[in-house]
Amino acid sequence: MSELADIATFLSGIGGDANRFLRIALTGTGSEHRVVGTVDAWTIKGYRTEHDALFGLNVHPDFAGHGIGRRLAEALESWARERGLRRLTTWIRAHNARGARFAQRLGFRQEAISPNHAVIDGRVSAQVSLGKVLR
Ligand SMILES: CC(C)(COP(=O)(O)OP(=O)(O)OC[C@H]1O[C@@H](n2cnc3c(N)ncnc32)[C@H](O)[C@@H]1OP(=O)(O)O)[C@@H](O)C(=O)NCCC(=O)NCCS
Repeated sequence: MSELADIATFLSGIGGDANRFLRIALTGTGSEHRVVGTVDAWTIKGYRTEHDALFGLNVHPDFAGHGIGRRLAEALESWARERGLRRLTTWIRAHNARGARFAQRLGFRQEAISPNHAVIDGRVSAQVSLGKVLR
């Protein structure tokens, strides 16, 4: 299955879900497109944290530093505000200095560290949770 067909399948699955948000940044012309960034967010209905959108945001390294991440984050924040959500939450690996600076620029604050969150290639890796309150 092609990359775009995979995306179409994924989109059709979440298209009707009001608790999800997905934005994909593409580059290219005509029928030739590449995915250069994505942001995917969700809320969990019925929990005390349903005022919060949890999200993942990624930009292809070849296209970093061109404002794609900021634009995806701004689209997410608009969606969250329109829904009356009160905060955004994400997680990064503790060694992800670029992600930490990006998040800081966008108004996120480090909220907690899970020192032994994952084992990656045999090494224990810490995870940092980041939050932004929407005022
Ligand atoms: C972190 C990431 C999303 C940045 O995407 P990007 O498209 O390169 O970021 P942008 O070009 O939109 O930059 C947005 C802001 O972050 C800052 N920034 C981005 N990378 C930075 C870096 N390495 N050092 C310092 N500042 C940086 C920019 O200066 C910019 O600030 P400004 O708009 O006020 O000038 C991208 O590198 C990535 O996908 N990393 C892996 C996944 C990840 O860490 N996700 C973070 C989730 S919060």
